[in-house]
Amino acid sequence: MTERPIRGTTRLAAVIGSPIRHSLSPALFNAAFADAGLDWVYVALEVAPGDAGRALDGMRALGLGGLSVTMPHKDAVAALVDHCTPEAAALRAVNCVVPTRDGLVGDNTDGPGFLDALAADAGFDPAGRRTVVVGAGGAARAIVLALARAGAAEVVVVNRTADKAHVAAALAAAQGRVGDASSIEGAELVVNATSVGMGDGAVPFEPDLLRPEQVLADIVYHPSPTPLLAAARDRGVTAIDGLGMLVHQAGHAFRLWTGQDPPIAAMTSAAHRELATRR
Ligand code: ATR
Repeated sequence: MTERPIRGTTRLAAVIGSPIRHSLSPALFNAAFADAGLDWVYVALEVAPGDAGRALDGMRALGLGGLSVTMPHKDAVAALVDHCTPEAAALRAVNCVVPTRDGLVGDNTDGPGFLDALAADAGFDPAGRRTVVVGAGGAARAIVLALARAGAAEVVVVNRTADKAHVAAALAAAQGRVGDASSIEGAELVVNATSVGMGDGAVPFEPDLLRPEQVLADIVYHPSPTPLLAAARDRGVTAIDGLGMLVHQAGHAFRLWTGQDPPIAAMTSAAHRELATRR
């Protein structure tokens, strides 16, 4: 990447979270700004739990061009911005803040990012399809909502903790229901939206439940492949890791902040380069 001068005109975007030092977002967004020739820089800011309100006041006062939000602030920011998009309001979680003339708008780009990755990396359109989402945390809920809005015939939520499964399935309204591991066999798309496989060597469900005609999307991107992804590919399943979702959710934020199409290839290369330093 060529060096970019920082000037009086340079716009600042940032991510807030805690812990934040391992975030891939600075690598992704700075590569995107450089590739697009934009006079922007992006930094990671450690913001302690409970301090999201002061961080948003800072964003207002400093005129940041955009703000990404990650754990543990996504829920708090949804209650602190001036407006939420329908997605962020339904999820009560914000991962991207956009400054507008009407104030700060909170959006959630995880679901749209997931759908874009599914289309780009697996050629899969959920419209009319039977889908299963394993997990019911923040990422799972964003995916459940996105699949329902994309017209999935059904969105079955399978989760260790039943209460959370019901909350997630409700986001898909009439298309949603709670299932168990046996639901996996009947699905055309299976999503692992749990953190299982993230360095623990474990699988979130028995890979023998998968069939070659299915598509598997794992939201875990490090390590890649996860044990689940490797087992799925061994069985002939079309299987994608979570890097595409990470890149495409950032791509949506890039578009919201700059009004330009995101340079997905440059962002993907930057993510691979950054992850290669962490092995
Ligand atoms: P995120 O917001 O990143 O999605 P999260 O809210 O902590 O993270 O959710 C993690 C998901 O992974 C949950 O669905 C969790 O299941 P529970 O709701 O039962 O806690 C799931 N998960 C994490 N570790 C798991 C494990 N060892 N076995 C099964 N599910 C697990």
